[in-house]
Amino acid sequence: MMNHGYTYQSALASAETVRWRIEDIIGGEKGLDFSKPFMPESFARVQELAFLNDEEKLLLNQIRGNAYLCIFGLVEEFILPFVIDHARQQVHGDDYPMRAFLQFAGEEAKHIQLFKRFQREFEEGFGTHCPVIGPAQAIADAILAHDPLGIALTTLHIEWMVQRHYVDSIKDDQELDPQFKSLLRHHWMEEVQHAKLDTLMVESLAAGQSEEEIMKGVEEYIAIGGFIDGGLKQQVEFDLDSFERATARLLTDEEKEEFRRLQLQANRWTYLGTGMTHEKVLATLESLTPKARQRIESISSAFC
Ligand SMILES: [Fe+2]
Ligand SMILES: [Fe+2]
Repeated sequence: MMNHGYTYQSALASAETVRWRIEDIIGGEKGLDFSKPFMPESFARVQELAFLNDEEKLLLNQIRGNAYLCIFGLVEEFILPFVIDHARQQVHGDDYPMRAFLQFAGEEAKHIQLFKRFQREFEEGFGTHCPVIGPAQAIADAILAHDPLGIALTTLHIEWMVQRHYVDSIKDDQELDPQFKSLLRHHWMEEVQHAKLDTLMVESLAAGQSEEEIMKGVEEYIAIGGFIDGGLKQQVEFDLDSFERATARLLTDEEKEEFRRLQLQANRWTYLGTGMTHEKVLATLESLTPKARQRIESISSAFC
């Protein structure tokens, strides 16, 4: 077990100090500014596409920003039932875990609604329909068919990834649209507690498991990552199509290949690499068994 100091009681207490309503952070005067980028360049990687002009790079950045929030909405649709099921199993147990997980679930339900609301605003302002992978239920069903430890590790990866994105790349980026940034900031404020609760969840699921059982969970986490990677390949095709429609520019075959290659790696880094190489994720894996950390470290460079 790691010496992280996280407890259900303190996570709940922190969560209760964060209070925002969807209506307070989106809609009305709080509109998106389409003259600004939405995504930090470290995730968008549009500057590497030398054959695009500045306006085209901006549009692609915004297409990626829309996909980013929609993909978070999608993954939260598997996290929500997973956390509810986990809470339900403890209904006659201690009060703090129960309340902390219900709070967690309530926040994810709010985030799902926030991201749907964002998607509507985005489409109205951007003017071009930008498809995103789905449907959410099919993705959730595929992920939830895996071993609970594998699902919990995937959730842990996502929660720490959100922390890293905001703190390292978004918070101090003054170029980004302030409204888009505000949505990410409010989301991050609640995700801080989720990352800690997921750490406790992983530990409780792994408690009493043999090394072999734990490594099975790690392989399931990798399998879910492979499934998400397949979704990202599809998303790059959607983004390419959205880009051509938004700019009314048809790329040559060579340009399309370059677009696919660079954007797939940009998506892999955004959703997979930043989680698999997160020190907190690696520390939790190591606490289960050093083999778990070694296994993830042996494959993570492909997603960076
Ligand atoms: Fe969330
Ligand atoms: Fe979360």
